[in-house]
Parts: sequence; C-alpha cells; structure tokens
Amino acid sequence: MRALHRAYAVDLHETQSVDQPEQIRAARRAAWRLQQGVTVQKQPPRRAVVDDGDSAFEALPVPILQITPEGLVCRANRLARHLLEVDDATQMPMSDLVEGLGRPVADWLADGFNGRGLRRPEIVRASRPKAELFVQITLGQITTPRGPRLVAVLHDATELKTLEAQFVQSQKMQAIGQLAGGVAHDFNNLLTAISGHCDLLLLRHDEGDPEFSDLEQINQNANRAASLVGQLLAFSRKQNLRPELLDMRLTLSDLTHLLDRLVGERVALSFDHDPSLSMVRADKRQLEQVLMNLVVNARDAMPNGGEIRIETRRHRLAQPLKRDRVEVPVGDYVLVRVTDEGTGIAPDKLPKIFEPFFTTKRTGEGTGLGLSTAYGIVKQTGGYIFADSDPGKGAEFVLYFPAHDRPETMVVAPAERKPRVTAPSGEGVVLLVEDEAPVRAFASRALRMRGFT
Ligand SMILES: Nc1ncnc2c1ncn2[C@@H]1O[C@H](COP(=O)(O)OP(=O)(O)OP(=O)(O)O)[C@@H](O)[C@H]1O
Ligand SMILES: [Mg+2]
Repeated sequence: MRALHRAYAVDLHETQSVDQPEQIRAARRAAWRLQQGVTVQKQPPRRAVVDDGDSAFEALPVPILQITPEGLVCRANRLARHLLEVDDATQMPMSDLVEGLGRPVADWLADGFNGRGLRRPEIVRASRPKAELFVQITLGQITTPRGPRLVAVLHDATELKTLEAQFVQSQKMQAIGQLAGGVAHDFNNLLTAISGHCDLLLLRHDEGDPEFSDLEQINQNANRAASLVGQLLAFSRKQNLRPELLDMRLTLSDLTHLLDRLVGERVALSFDHDPSLSMVRADKRQLEQVLMNLVVNARDAMPNGGEIRIETRRHRLAQPLKRDRVEVPVGDYVLVRVTDEGTGIAPDKLPKIFEPFFTTKRTGEGTGLGLSTAYGIVKQTGGYIFADSDPGKGAEFVLYFPAHDRPETMVVAPAERKPRVTAPSGEGVVLLVEDEAPVRAFASRALRMRGFT
C-alpha cells in the first residue's frame, strides 16, 4: 500500500509541473496504479513515465479493461480486444464478454466496486471467441474524474484449464478403472466358485439326467459372466497379458474370416496394408478383441450396410502428437485405422465413448464395455487410441502401437507350453492355500474327489 501511495505522489508531482488537461492526467494516474498494483510492481515508477495516457493504456503489455459501475466496458486496450476477439469493446456489457463464474457477472463487479474480491483472480470463459478460451481476470479499483472504475487485468488461462481438464479426466478413468478392477476381481472369485461347483455337479449327472440341461445353462451363463468380467479386468489393466511380437497384417488376416462373419452380408470389409510394416508387441488374443470390438461397433453404426476399411500404416512421429488431451511421444508407430460410413458420433458423445458402460444402444444390445476394453488393452500395450467422427458420415478409430523393428534384439519369452498331463489322481495330503472361502471349498472338494486329503 505504501508503495502505491508513493507512486501516486510522484505521479501527481510530475503532472502538476506540466500543463495538461485533467483527462490525460487521470489516465496517467490510472496507468500508474496499474503499473503499481497489478503488473510490473518491481519497476521503479520513474522509468515507466510516458507522455500520453491513452497511448500508454493502449500499449500496455497486458490485456486491460476498464469497467463502469453499470458493468459496461468503457476502455479496452489493444491486447484485451485481441484476446477477447472484439473490434471495439466500449459500451459492451461485461456479461456479454465473459461467463462461467458460477454467479452473475454483475454481482461479481458490484463486489469489486465495494472493494470485495479485488486482486483475487477469477477464471472465466470468454463468450466471444469460437475456440474455447479461458481468461483469468484480476480486478482493481480506481477513481477517475468521471467516477469510480474497475480495472480488469486479463490473462489467457486456457492452457491451465486444459491441463486441469486432462488431469481430471485421467483421475476419473483411473478411479473407474480401480473400481471396475476391484469389483471384477471379487466377481471372478465368485464365478470360479459357481462354475467349479457346477462342474462338480455335472460330473455326477450325465446327459440323460433331467437336471443336466439346467446345469448346462448355469455353466454357460457363468462362462458368459466370466468373459464380461474379463473385459472389465482388461479395462482396468489388471489382466495378465502375454505379449509377443506380432505382424499386424497377419493378425488381421487370421481374423478376416471371423470378421467377415461378424459384419454380415450388407457390410463390406476392406483391407489396405502397408507393405513395410513393423512388428508390434502385444497379446494376440487381446489385440483380436480390440479389432473385433471396433469392427462390431462400425457394423452396428451401419444398419443399412456400407463399407468398413481397415488400414495399416507405418508412421513416424517426428514431433510429439497432441490429441484429445494426451501426447503421443516421438517415435515409430504401427498405425491401424478403422473407418466406417455409419451414423458417426455426436461431438458431445465423442469424449465419453471410452468410458465403461457408456452406450447409446438399447438395453440388451450394448453394455458399453467394448471401447473401454479396447482402450484398456491398447494402453496396456503402450499404445494410443483416438476416435474422430463426422456425424452422419461415419467414424474413424486410429490406433498407435509402438513399432518394434529389431526382433533379433528382443528377448521374447518363449510361450511356455507345458505338456498337458491328465489330471493326476492318487493319495496324499495337499495343503491348499486360498483366501476366498467359496473357491477354497470347491477346490478342496475337487481334490478330495481325486483321492487327496
Ligand atoms: N463406429 C462407430 N460409429 C458410431 N458410434 C460408435 C462407433 N463406435 C462406438 N460408437 C458409440 O460409442 C458407444 C460405446 O461403444 P462401446 O463399444 O464401448 O459400447 P457398445 O457398442 O454400446 O456396447 P458393447 O460394445 O459393450 O456391446 C456406442 O454405444 C456408440 O454410441
Ligand atoms: Mg461395442
């Protein structure tokens, strides 16, 4: 405060010696206060003296507005007009320029005139610009010959907001993942017990038995539930992967037959492969699941038929790629692009499609787990998945997998294939350690049936 008073005194002292109209002096005082109170506090006041208040205000290196008690902008310097994308802001209500305070702009300004909340920055959304723009605004109060005014110093806070949104999104995905993973783990144990006991019962009933078909039903449904749980585990990245070096083209051609059957007759499937494709390191079964999910979604989006294109490309990123709030680092990638000509995805839905249980399909037609599973698997493989859509024209999913070019230097764990031995039966004592009671009960029954104690 003392510094401000001193600056004010110096200012008055200097202006008094020059014969200038009151308006220019007032503007100079305003510019002084800004210099002192908000922007370049550390500079000694003398060096910032300029001869003309208007041009000083106009040329200040920060975007600044002056606001009347009625909430109208009475002055806006060049940087402020540029930031807010207006040619002339004078006489515009502040409430037309910014929004998203969580309370009326007029109240906030009235508080400012009453000396409350001054110098406490608020982040608001600018209403004018087409691209999203967040502005941090700090208010200060001044007195001009024409009455009190608020001075608003603006600062582009879009990057900050974007980072914040990115952080919130990743926290959300992580929380959902943890929840899903936890639930799935418990469920998995219960399902093991259910299908285990069911297997035991099936051993005692043969096909002619009146109970056999019911038992079969229980078994089949338990298996279906287990595969759903498997998807949840994949999303929460808790599944064990068996990564191997794969040629995406071969994986796709192995899958062609199945995909063709999946899409049906109305939908055509076309492939376009890069002849010089690198290898990727992934779990083959899981990769197949990702591709199948994408193709099934594309099919569902084209009830009247159309074409699904699957492209593979070798892709070198020389610059980090920023997209959908993530950054893909520089490097070589194998790119898989799945494009369809279906209904597309509305822009407001696009950010949600990778969330578990997000679906636009009717109950029973979709669980909303397809894309979240794909997301989890791709992430776990060290890759990236992006979606883009032209609503009405179709959707495009692009997957980036890190390229693995030198298989000879890669140590690939040989897929351990233990010879299948027929379940041993015999005598002896087995110490069974299992924390889940239902699973323990089933396992000990099964062991006892084989003659162990
Ligand atoms: N190719 C696409 N074209 C249009 N919309 C799509 C496409 N792919 C996904 N979507 C939208 O994203 C939503 C989520 O897809 P996701 O695969 O996760 O779930 P689902 O297909 O609804 O159900 P599930 O795959 O579990 O059977 C879909 O309901 C759909 O609205
Ligand atoms: Mg799906």
